[in-house]
Amino acid sequence: MSNVVFITGATSGFGRATARRFAEAGWSLVLTGRRSERLEELKAELGAKVPVHIATLDVRDAEAVKKAVADLPAEFAQIKALINNAGLALAPQPSQNVDLTDWHTMIDTNITGLVNVTHAVLPKLLETGKGASIVNLGSVAGEWPYPGGHVYGASKAFVKQFSFNLRCDLIATGVRVTDIAPGMAETEFTLVRTRGDQAASDKLYQGTTPLTAEDIAEQIYYVATLPDHININRLEIMPSRQAWSPFAVDRDK
Ligand SMILES: NC(=O)c1ccc[n+]([C@@H]2O[C@H](COP(=O)([O-])OP(=O)(O)OC[C@H]3O[C@@H](n4cnc5c(N)ncnc54)[C@H](OP(=O)(O)O)[C@@H]3O)[C@@H](O)[C@H]2O)c1
Repeated sequence: MSNVVFITGATSGFGRATARRFAEAGWSLVLTGRRSERLEELKAELGAKVPVHIATLDVRDAEAVKKAVADLPAEFAQIKALINNAGLALAPQPSQNVDLTDWHTMIDTNITGLVNVTHAVLPKLLETGKGASIVNLGSVAGEWPYPGGHVYGASKAFVKQFSFNLRCDLIATGVRVTDIAPGMAETEFTLVRTRGDQAASDKLYQGTTPLTAEDIAEQIYYVATLPDHININRLEIMPSRQAWSPFAVDRDK
């Protein structure tokens, strides 16, 4: 039987590229996300190559997550890799101008959602044991502050620390845990963050060379297929054309 990978947020960006990367290597796919038609499209694309199971799922709904895992067909029930990728940033404006609901949505998705899926899938990974992996999508925003990063960056700092703490508990189980922390990557991420402002999204990536979804998918595949005795704790990846800036200083006008 082929290895099974369970991917959240497979309808776009890193998640979709990761589904394609694992399919190329012959893995069976469990693909989840809220947009059913995108899941159907991906199943139609990859289903001829490898077994594909799709489940329309909002990671914020703990009961639905539990049910999706409990309802996995036997062929997909032995999971070797969990890719906790579903996530989003909202509200690029400063904290003082943000709607509380946007902060809640980021916490509910990036923290609560990731925890829901991890809790539901962990027993399956423990059954697999040696060589199983949890790959969590963190961000450079989890390590480095920037204006407008507020709850998004804080939620990704949670992802990093949760990943490290999981490692401590799972040390003797064979289940590996990695926090992958990308920098600027062109996906639908900025379109979501700006609530569908295509011009703003294009402008952010214009005149530079951002990471692609495929770049990150390759790294996800790499960490999940290393020899069993290797655990990459954290992988922070920026485009060559992105780096840090000097500290901001407020001066008298
Ligand atoms: N692009 C970047 O610059 C960047 C950098 C660092 C980290 N990241 C992180 O990488 C991950 C993937 O982002 P991306 O760049 O690939 O963005 P994307 O193209 O917008 O994809 C995000 C995915 O998350 C899913 N998702 C969002 N909310 C969900 C929910 N409540 N339940 C289930 N699925 C949900 C979306 O699917 P549905 O809408 O169909 O549910 C979509 O498939 C995120 O965790 C993001 O924070 C991105």
